[in-house]
Amino acid sequence: MVFRLLPGMQLGVSSAPAQIEGGDVDHNWNHWYRLGKIKDGSSPGRANRHLELWREDIDLMHSMGIRHYRLGIEWARLEPEEGSWDKEAVRYYRKLLKYMKKRGIEPLLTLHHFTNPMWFESQGGFADEQNISAFLRYVSFAVRAFGDLVAEYITVNEPNVYATLGYYDGGFPPGEDSVMLASKVMSVMAACHIRSYRMIHRLRRKMGYHDTKVGYAHHARVFAPADRKNPLHTSFAKISRWMFQGALAKACLTGYFRPPLRNIIDITPGEYADFLALNYYTRSTVSRLGDGTAPDVAKNDLGWEIYPSGIIQCARELYAILDRPIYITENGTCDNQDDFRCRYIYEHLKALCEEELPVERYYHWCFCDNFEWLEGESARFGIVHIDYETQQRTIKKSGRFYSEVIAQGGVTEMLYQEYVAGEAYHL
Ligand code: BGC
Repeated sequence: MVFRLLPGMQLGVSSAPAQIEGGDVDHNWNHWYRLGKIKDGSSPGRANRHLELWREDIDLMHSMGIRHYRLGIEWARLEPEEGSWDKEAVRYYRKLLKYMKKRGIEPLLTLHHFTNPMWFESQGGFADEQNISAFLRYVSFAVRAFGDLVAEYITVNEPNVYATLGYYDGGFPPGEDSVMLASKVMSVMAACHIRSYRMIHRLRRKMGYHDTKVGYAHHARVFAPADRKNPLHTSFAKISRWMFQGALAKACLTGYFRPPLRNIIDITPGEYADFLALNYYTRSTVSRLGDGTAPDVAKNDLGWEIYPSGIIQCARELYAILDRPIYITENGTCDNQDDFRCRYIYEHLKALCEEELPVERYYHWCFCDNFEWLEGESARFGIVHIDYETQQRTIKKSGRFYSEVIAQGGVTEMLYQEYVAGEAYHL
């Protein structure tokens, strides 16, 4: 064996509803597409047509030995108009969740993954604390509708990415460019997470269940100074880390809001996660506030550095705030030709398995290639290839590798030779 998975560690795959379902739902990303913002002109209205092909996708997952699936439900589909709930959408998700159970696949359910119903967006979305109640009403509805089928929940996905790209960088909807607004959105989303955490536990307890687990998906990266000897670079790396992920993790996990975040609705300090959900992709090398990539490092097809040991650094950062089991809820890479994904998976898993951290789950991002937000269909992250024209699914080499790792409980010398040894990253 080159390495064994940690005792009890389970491997799964991850997705988000707007990235796979397709259909003309009235949410902010279909709106963004209509404004011509998607780089390759593709639309979330097509994506993987998972809404029709879900059974095939679950069967494929099952055939690959995958038994853990992080998936999301689409708020805009469930509550297309404020206060009115779509029974057909409820039926759809119940059918999907029941079918997963039948196939022995356990759900980890994301309630919010970047998409808002347009009625919510036009009321100011998460930039206005008055709207927290609308989000909580949706969470309560979702738990009552699916709580008998789902024990584990992610409240919100990556508040920092959502807030930074939508309210500071402006590339994501609604396209704002204010650092103040971005911090406010993070504060409001942290409050939403904490209130949902309590509510989900309360509702499921009332339903007679005592196995509920709730977390929020935290996007973290390593921030490294471009020049380690330059005190300015070192400070920028430190400040960027705090502004982007540190303050948010502290607020969401413990209810302590430190600047630039604010405790807008009087949250009491506490412990607000049953597992630490970490989404990890890359390292940023900085010489100013923000983002950057060092020259001459291994990069994926979007230019993101591949830095496997960073997954440990980021997991440790979270674990130092609250010691809970760790779920890697996203880790993956844009590799359009599937040239180096086996190596990427191998190196990240190996890093995790050589540490003493309590990593219980690893969900690869993602199962099938899907609608990659601003990049549209042009950036492929899947272990299953999608031909968007025909909607044909084909397991990639990395998919076969992943399946083998699950079956064998780690990476054997033979697997290493067959899948990993011949792969090299691009510089
Ligand atoms: C998001 C995913 C996205 C992935 C790759 C994460 O930040 O949660 O929705 O597809 O990164 O960009």
